[in-house]
Amino acid sequence: MVDIALLESDLTAAIAAAGSADALEDVRVRALGKNGSVTALLKTLGGLSPEEKQTKGPLFNGLRERVTAALGTRKTILEAAALDVQLAAERVDITLPAATVPVGRLHPVHRVMDELTEIFADLGFAVAEGPEIESDWHNFTALNIPPEHPARAMHDTFYFPADANGDRKLLRTHTSPVQIRTMMSQKPPIRIIAPGRTYRSDSDATHTPMFHQVEGLVIDRHITMAHLRWTLETFIKAFFEVDDIITRFRPSFFPFTEPSAELDVQCQWGGGELKVGEGSDWLEILGCGMVHPKVIAACGLDPTEWQGFAFGCGIDRLAMLKYGMTDLRAFFDADLRWLKHYGFSFLDVPTLSGGVGA
Ligand code: PHE
Repeated sequence: MVDIALLESDLTAAIAAAGSADALEDVRVRALGKNGSVTALLKTLGGLSPEEKQTKGPLFNGLRERVTAALGTRKTILEAAALDVQLAAERVDITLPAATVPVGRLHPVHRVMDELTEIFADLGFAVAEGPEIESDWHNFTALNIPPEHPARAMHDTFYFPADANGDRKLLRTHTSPVQIRTMMSQKPPIRIIAPGRTYRSDSDATHTPMFHQVEGLVIDRHITMAHLRWTLETFIKAFFEVDDIITRFRPSFFPFTEPSAELDVQCQWGGGELKVGEGSDWLEILGCGMVHPKVIAACGLDPTEWQGFAFGCGIDRLAMLKYGMTDLRAFFDADLRWLKHYGFSFLDVPTLSGGVGA
């Protein structure tokens, strides 16, 4: 006859001694497995008389329940201990000074994009994106530049080989296709900027085949050129960190805006340095205008209900003007000495309150 008390104290001791999940599982199998000691006891119940069953049944079942509970408790303890070991091993000391970590620098273009985002976010603009490999329709046709339109020739477009249907994809020549994608995927009112890469087959000290633009688009009811002018002046003031600037609109032409204008900012060049807001020179900053009704209609919106303005601005040039680099090609040489000199710390986040260039 098995000594139940002895069996229980043996098992309890084995459970307490189990130092790992595997060891505990061994004890469980020895007690409650198919050939386990407790299981064997329970199996004997079948051959007992009804009277014996009445006394032994609760005894054996009680044993099984206590052993099961002890196994569970031990399991929880072992799991907590294992987690502690893991947490201790994976601990990261966030109090380590960042200066001891080797840091890279943010490219001035990246920096200017962050500044633009900060300035326009404050004016209620969201950031929109579009693909750099674009369809001809988004890049040209929907922007009121139909096939054979002379404006296409001005864009020095990189085309991909035509597909089976004769359609040629292209590298977007400007960020204006994001206007189309945004109007087709969002309901007005719309206020977005779209910074990103653009491509034209052009290369000299002020042109690189890949360059950066930021598009701006506002679509709402009752939008006028006055809203455009104010928005651009507010942007230029914040970007160049000057309170008083004089801007002028020069009449221009873009197929996707009517009327169209270019924005110039009053400036002065002295000793190779640019001062914005004083002097007698003019700096060309960007192209803009009221979104052409045909463009609004091409996106499925009713131009008698919705109108707005758009602008497009070269980011690389903005960076050169603000931070004093003279050769655009150096932007894309990946020369570490240049990056170290002109780059920014990633900890130095632009904020409006600190001045976005601070
Ligand atoms: N997409 C034009 C360009 O690349 C700029 C522009 C954008 C002009 C939006 C007007 C409105 O030159």
